[in-house]
Amino acid sequence: MVLPSAILLPLYLYPSAPTTWTPLYNSLTAHPTTHFDIVINPDSGPSLVGPSDDALSDYVAAVSQLRTYPNVHIFGYVYTSHGAASLQPALLSNISRYATWNAYTPSNISLDGIFFDEAPSAYDADIFTNLATAAALARSSGLRRAIFNPGAVADTRYFALADSVVVFEGAYADFDASAIAALAQGVRANSSVVVYDYTGAEADQKALVERLVGLGLGSLDVTTTGSYSEWSALWAAFTQQVSSAVGVE
Ligand SMILES: *[C@@H]1O[C@H](CO)[C@@H](O)[C@H](O)[C@H]1NC(C)=O
Ligand SMILES: *[C@@H]1O[C@H](CO)[C@@H](O)[C@H](O)[C@H]1NC(C)=O
Ligand SMILES: *[C@@H]1O[C@H](CO)[C@@H](O)[C@H](O)[C@H]1NC(C)=O
Repeated sequence: MVLPSAILLPLYLYPSAPTTWTPLYNSLTAHPTTHFDIVINPDSGPSLVGPSDDALSDYVAAVSQLRTYPNVHIFGYVYTSHGAASLQPALLSNISRYATWNAYTPSNISLDGIFFDEAPSAYDADIFTNLATAAALARSSGLRRAIFNPGAVADTRYFALADSVVVFEGAYADFDASAIAALAQGVRANSSVVVYDYTGAEADQKALVERLVGLGLGSLDVTTTGSYSEWSALWAAFTQQVSSAVGVE
């Protein structure tokens, strides 16, 4: 069974005020049966300090607010450096740090999983083992979901380690939907697409969203900016378009 496509939002925007993430809260309320996968990124990873440290108080407040919406999964960002052995200790330590968020009791800031940025695409046995070890640590720590972001079509063996693999992350000018359509349907269901620097009109974005949802992708993002720390000018329209395309409204 193919599940309806979810919205994938890399949300690297620092929640400096209670209203900073309001466009997201508004969309979660407006589209309660659309599913949102949100990637938070306190400090190119979980930050060196734990959630009880004052330095993270803005994040604790924002994530506990986000946690009140039933239609989200929250992912912690980690940098993977293509599975490099030299980064493996830091990667495992980042995952263990995020796991402490799930044990934090003053408020619910529990995370559903880990977003592995700069994941590998070409298969290599040692690199595969590093990623398998990291994904297993995350799962056994209660961070049960994994998204890998190679930003390109990855070797199919990596799909066994992750719920979803970002098979395209790039500018709209470089996006080729036919390359995604060429993937087997079973692969597309576990694939995500992130298109940034979208320059078209709102109506053309709607057609793009309909095409991507129609391909049966696991999740998608289309944003007018080239930065994950700003809202797309078409964010609200995008969430409406995905919701219409998946047929929930
Ligand atoms: C997280 O990983 C980064 C490298 O990407 C490293 O610099 C940092 O110290 C790690 N943080 C923790 C808490 O493990
Ligand atoms: C925190 O929120 C999540 C998602 O709603 C829920 O599954 C979990 O049980 C909550 N944790 C606690 C300790 O209430
Ligand atoms: C692929 O995605 C489906 C949901 O569409 C999920 O149930 C399944 O666990 C995923 N497969 C893997 C290997 O993660």
